[in-house]
Amino acid sequence: MQSPKDFFKPLAVGAPAPVREVPVGPSRMIHFFPGSNAKMVSKAPAMAARVDILLVNMEDGVPADDKEAARSGLVEVAAMDLGQAQLWTRVNSLDSPWGLDDITTAVLEAGSNLDVIMIPKVEGPEDIHYVDRLLAQLEAKAGLEAPILVHAILETARGVANVEAICGASPRMQGLSLGPADLAANRRMKTTRVGGGHPGYLVRADPGDDADAPRQTFQQDLWHYTVARMVDACVMHGILPFYGPFGDIADTTACEDQFRNAYLLGCVGAWSLHPVQIDIAKKVFTPDASEIDHAQRVVDAMGDGTGALMIDGKMEDDASVKQCLVVLALAQQLAERDGVAP
Ligand code: GLV
Ligand code: MG
Repeated sequence: MQSPKDFFKPLAVGAPAPVREVPVGPSRMIHFFPGSNAKMVSKAPAMAARVDILLVNMEDGVPADDKEAARSGLVEVAAMDLGQAQLWTRVNSLDSPWGLDDITTAVLEAGSNLDVIMIPKVEGPEDIHYVDRLLAQLEAKAGLEAPILVHAILETARGVANVEAICGASPRMQGLSLGPADLAANRRMKTTRVGGGHPGYLVRADPGDDADAPRQTFQQDLWHYTVARMVDACVMHGILPFYGPFGDIADTTACEDQFRNAYLLGCVGAWSLHPVQIDIAKKVFTPDASEIDHAQRVVDAMGDGTGALMIDGKMEDDASVKQCLVVLALAQQLAERDGVAP
């Protein structure tokens, strides 16, 4: 057991002190592209202008022969001017032949411009402890002034079972993403889709008087339980939950629905795997004008925020003011980022 007094001490001599609060900047989309794709690397500044977070991917999706090229791509992108966008990378998993070299290169050659390292297939707090110490050693060696934060992907059953411990394993923990593809495989779920629903996962209305009449069915959200659990674990530890990938790029409607479910449950953003998903994430994870107007009316009407009153036939009180303040704070932050009036 570690004493709470020691939790914020650097884990290596010369490493920067851990952060006490996770920075909560605009995070509506984590836009993925492979670091091995030279054309995309050259377009990184243009992509960065459209997104909140740009992520150089080295893990799944990058063929084994291109892993070294993906590392070099990260180093190149880190030397570019990405404006206000955060720069993240996803390294290969800790048990892979590439994970150690990915992390080493990321910190020693890109570390001063890298905000977050995403670690896939995290199974328990021991994975975070390993990365925490390794990053401290590398940060000390690189002479970094600010610590690099860690984002874990929740994509194994053991990871889900240990989710609270993972979130609280280090002050470096920035957030979690749901990884529905690996998680489905690991759990032996019988969906072959990358995120999203499945027509077979449904509930059916009871039969009526006519036993032969068709009965309505309602498709259910396969990911509800895991996203809800992830949100609670993250909020408990002051870190940020994200929905992960939606693989059916052409089905922009279902992607928007999946993103919105995550937004409504408390996620701050989702992954975009294609430019079309950048706009979906921006739309969904930015409070819409009618929501902002309503929230402002409630806050204005509630004075010091205590008591209860009726607006448009609905009861508002101390708790609903807090709900409205969440929406207004997010709207204000995003309006500043987008350069528009809130
Ligand atoms: C993402 O990495 C996933 O496995 O869904
Ligand atoms: Mg995965």
